[in-house]
Amino acid sequence: MIQLTIIMYYRNILIHLSLILVSGSIPTYILLFLMLEILEYRFNIKIWSQQERTSNCYDWFEHYLPQNYDKDLNKDYSESLFDGNSGLTIEAATLRKFDYIFRELNLSEGQTLLDCGCGTGVWMLYCKGRGVNVVGLTLSKEQAQIVKSKGLDARVQDYREYLPSFQSYFDAISLIGSTEHTCLSQGALTGDSTCCDRCIADRIKLFKMLKGYLKTNGKMFISGLVKNSKRTPAYTDMFYNYILERHYGGYYSYYEDYIKALEASGLHIISSKDTTKDYFWTSVRCPDHFGYFCINMKQNVADKIIYFVKGLFTDPFLWHHFIYHISNAWMWQFGGYKKQYLTDEDVQRSPMHNKYFTLGAHGDSGTLRRS
Ligand SMILES: C[S@@+](CC[C@H](N)C(=O)[O-])C[C@H]1O[C@@H](n2cnc3c(N)ncnc32)[C@H](O)[C@@H]1O
Repeated sequence: MIQLTIIMYYRNILIHLSLILVSGSIPTYILLFLMLEILEYRFNIKIWSQQERTSNCYDWFEHYLPQNYDKDLNKDYSESLFDGNSGLTIEAATLRKFDYIFRELNLSEGQTLLDCGCGTGVWMLYCKGRGVNVVGLTLSKEQAQIVKSKGLDARVQDYREYLPSFQSYFDAISLIGSTEHTCLSQGALTGDSTCCDRCIADRIKLFKMLKGYLKTNGKMFISGLVKNSKRTPAYTDMFYNYILERHYGGYYSYYEDYIKALEASGLHIISSKDTTKDYFWTSVRCPDHFGYFCINMKQNVADKIIYFVKGLFTDPFLWHHFIYHISNAWMWQFGGYKKQYLTDEDVQRSPMHNKYFTLGAHGDSGTLRRS
């Protein structure tokens, strides 16, 4: 048992070293690397779990994003809300988003909030500032440490796992930019038609469980990227879908499938809003934004180099992170980089859309608002 634990602990180092030793040359190394990919994609033989991929991705960001990223109340790991005012600063647009979500969730002082996928706790800090008791869950150890250093309650915990003590405990739940990670990509790139159905079933299970965490009349807010089914696919889609999934783990649903999952879980959609333009513009306007940032080699150089060299021997996802970064896979999601605010036509053509949903747990009687 102890031996097995030791092998698991050093698994990444062992695999990398054997790859290097066995191959002895770069082409053989690449060939073996590809073999591992085929094993997973074609035969579903996984060496690393999706959770490992996601947590590794956010740990990676913590080393390569500009120093003090997220120390500032107004920078986070998702979109800011411009609502068409492209001249707003990132700070103003982020506060606008927080005000919006706070209102949508009907939050008030003394209430309890569960933030599933809390990142570095920027939204949590805002809520704490307004008197809300908030618990945040993340898969990334490095993120959890940052959140704790802000005096907030953060836990390294997969929020898909049921926690009995959370049952009927919260007034509200937020999932901001995190449900993108919750479906397995198994079969997604090889045309397996059961993949989408499996993803819908996984989402229904998750939403039902979270609904159970809410008190009567509790509310949930979701912000997430979904696939645009109305767009004509391009031949490069497969590459970008592959690199996005490899980089951060998880798989996006089509918008229609997402709605199906929400409805089947018994949650009531109170309002929805398309915020694709906002996510795109946040990535363009904020040079530090995790989606489209430049690695600044003037800051923290030693840490970056050490992390990279260590990664050569220990990080199975290092190449995916760099290909993601170099290929601008993030901006591909919105039709590519450009300096203008997106038009409605751009949004129609965009591979992904960002959506907001405000949901009622127990048949909230409000009328559906769409914008
Ligand atoms: C794009 S970031 C968004 C962070 C934050 N909500 C924000 O807007 O800044 C996604 C976050 O979701 C977390 N996450 C993804 N899947 C998760 C899961 N199954 N359980 C817990 N956290 C998860 C990641 O660790 C990360 O913190």
